[in-house]
Amino acid sequence: MGSLDDGTGRPRIHKGLDDVYVKETRICLVDGVKGRLLYYGYDIRDLAKFSTFEETAYLLWHGRLPNREALAAFTAELAANRPIPKELVALLKDLPKNTAPIDAVRTAVSALGALDPDLNDPSRTANLRKALRLTAKIPTVVAAFHRIRNAQRVVKPNGKYPTATDYLRMLTGKKPDKRTARIMDVALILHADHSMNAGSFAATVAASTLPDLYSCIVAAIATLKGPLHGGANETAIKALLGIESPERAGEFVHDTLAAGNKVWGFGHRVYKTWDPRAIILRDVAKELSGRTGNEKLFAVARAVEEAGVAELGPKGIYPNVDYYAGVVYYLLGLAPDLFPATFAVARISGWVAQVLEYWEDNRIMRPLDYYVGPKEAVYVPLDQRT
Ligand SMILES: CC(C)(COP(=O)(O)OP(=O)(O)OC[C@H]1O[C@@H](n2cnc3c(N)ncnc32)[C@H](O)[C@@H]1OP(=O)(O)O)[C@@H](O)C(=O)NCCC(=O)NCCS
Repeated sequence: MGSLDDGTGRPRIHKGLDDVYVKETRICLVDGVKGRLLYYGYDIRDLAKFSTFEETAYLLWHGRLPNREALAAFTAELAANRPIPKELVALLKDLPKNTAPIDAVRTAVSALGALDPDLNDPSRTANLRKALRLTAKIPTVVAAFHRIRNAQRVVKPNGKYPTATDYLRMLTGKKPDKRTARIMDVALILHADHSMNAGSFAATVAASTLPDLYSCIVAAIATLKGPLHGGANETAIKALLGIESPERAGEFVHDTLAAGNKVWGFGHRVYKTWDPRAIILRDVAKELSGRTGNEKLFAVARAVEEAGVAELGPKGIYPNVDYYAGVVYYLLGLAPDLFPATFAVARISGWVAQVLEYWEDNRIMRPLDYYVGPKEAVYVPLDQRT
């Protein structure tokens, strides 16, 4: 059983599933050597320049760019599905105010599953309907919970606006200007998918046992929360905000590494060079720092980037998407604990694509673990144990 290592007789253990392929895919290519990211062959830099979140989600689910009518219909359907049921608003109101938004989203997705009449219909068309509802409602959930915890009136969705605009409007109570909305749109495109990362893998593991789509997404959200994955944007911004000035960046990086800690927002299992998304978001962060007058944060981020790359670049460790996403979201006025939930607003599109693709050729995920415990333990009755 398993692949035996010659010499020792022990199997090779793929810790962290490093270098293990679990499926073929047409959805997303992460080229960790050249620093390229493609969705269905389209370069992320082109999508960030020309596409919208709606168009990108359509691409991920259907494998092709929509024509004008298909995009208009898809955008309208998403907008029409953005309202959330009153039972869910009541549930969000019952959560403790200090619940992390990502936990509120995970809870809400579970509840939405229970409320969905299509929950147990496994057909592709029903799954696409559920996917649309989830993608439409997650921004509403995040914004509603954020306002509830701040004792603010919940802002209802407005079907006139696309996802990015309405998400910011529901969060802040104010319609964002065009450029701000476009920046959020670009951030959503950049976070939409990223091949077999921990969240997509968790969704796929859940999917492989053939539950409903909502269950797969709950598994993915649980994984996204961690600071090694989608929580890194929040951890990274908190570290950057604690640095007094760009001049302290070198000391910060040095002290962090000397203490054996990680520089958050740096490093990636696949990219051993620049993450193309970080480069795009760095330019956006620069623009926002000028527009908002918060030039210090950007200067600190740049200085930590330079010091971090000088120290870690030779090991193939560079800033990843979360590093500059944190700066961008902060400069857009989002509270740091909203960042992982905002990641979910975008990544739901990729999770759905990954799960639907896996279901085309499903096999239950069942890896092995190598037993190293005792084999001859003698059971001692409770009253005889010392
Ligand atoms: C993303 C990440 C989990 C990938 O991890 P991985 O492929 O398992 O790599 P490892 O954590 O085993 O790291 C390999 C080596 O690089 C070092 N390293 C990796 N990321 C580092 C970072 N951000 N800062 C400092 N050192 C880092 C590790 O300490 C390790 O060093 P060693 O070989 O001397 O022990 C890791 O880079 C990380 O924890 N980054 C910070 C969290 C983050 O930004 N996550 C978001 C990813 S999009």
